[in-house]
Amino acid sequence: MTELHVRKMRFGFADYDVPYLWNEENPAFSSMANAVSFLAIGFEKMVVNMVREAIPLISDPEVVEEADAFMRQEGQHSTAHRQHVSGLIKRYPGLQETLDNVIAQFDHLTSTTPVDYRLAYTADLEATFTPVFKLMLDNDASLFRPGDDRVASLFIWHFVEEVEHRSSALIIFQSAIGSDLYRMRMAPSIFRHVMRVIRVACEGFNEHVPLADRRIDALAMFASYRYMQRLRTWLPMLRAHDHGPMARAFDHLPLREQLVALTGIVRSQLPNHNPGHEKLPALASEWFERHAAGYDVTRWYTAAKESNR
Ligand SMILES: [Fe+2]
Ligand SMILES: [Fe+2]
Repeated sequence: MTELHVRKMRFGFADYDVPYLWNEENPAFSSMANAVSFLAIGFEKMVVNMVREAIPLISDPEVVEEADAFMRQEGQHSTAHRQHVSGLIKRYPGLQETLDNVIAQFDHLTSTTPVDYRLAYTADLEATFTPVFKLMLDNDASLFRPGDDRVASLFIWHFVEEVEHRSSALIIFQSAIGSDLYRMRMAPSIFRHVMRVIRVACEGFNEHVPLADRRIDALAMFASYRYMQRLRTWLPMLRAHDHGPMARAFDHLPLREQLVALTGIVRSQLPNHNPGHEKLPALASEWFERHAAGYDVTRWYTAAKESNR
């Protein structure tokens, strides 16, 4: 029997303005997380369609149950990210085009690639989430706490549930396809696609959100882009487009923790990877305990302050 719980959340994004710069202390992380919101909508739409297509390929009823719960959790994530992104589009209407472009990238995969490829895509990408999100959740004091509590709580909930269903996509892939070699062979094109989608989102941010609100070049997270921009300033014949400072989201985090996350990403792509053995962020168990106790997890930081009074 699956241990996944489908939780419906409402983060109050319609209640008042949703800021682009939701963590003013870290504009690069604000942008990165906003890009994740855009990506999540397209990716999770693809996942829902893919699971429906894959279920007839799965003979084990327990895996079918896992796939169904996984799909429903992802559906909830997508709904919540849509509410977040709708708030951003309300303020910057040009971002509707960015969202359409991001979704189109995933719709293209759904219509042009076999289900095997999309199962591998989901398994490969989701396998990286636990080490990456552990880095973020372990450093919530600087990445999430200073920010808009609705946005922070959305990401904390989503990342915690990604940790909860960290094995699901691999279990589904193993049951329906079962070839680690195929998954590994597809990895380069899968991660190229992921980076392309993030780039589409960041280009949209640079185009549609004024620098005064962004405070950084949203594309600064790409090493190749930083290199090209540097080249442009050295070589005057290449016209430089200045979209703002080249700050990065994780520069202030301990190098050791960044390296642990990086090693975890590499390990997640190797054959026989078992996410069940991953080290988990302490915040995840705290979140499940608070949620079970009826705490308002949609206001992770402000509700804590109120209940401590
Ligand atoms: Fe998700
Ligand atoms: Fe997921």
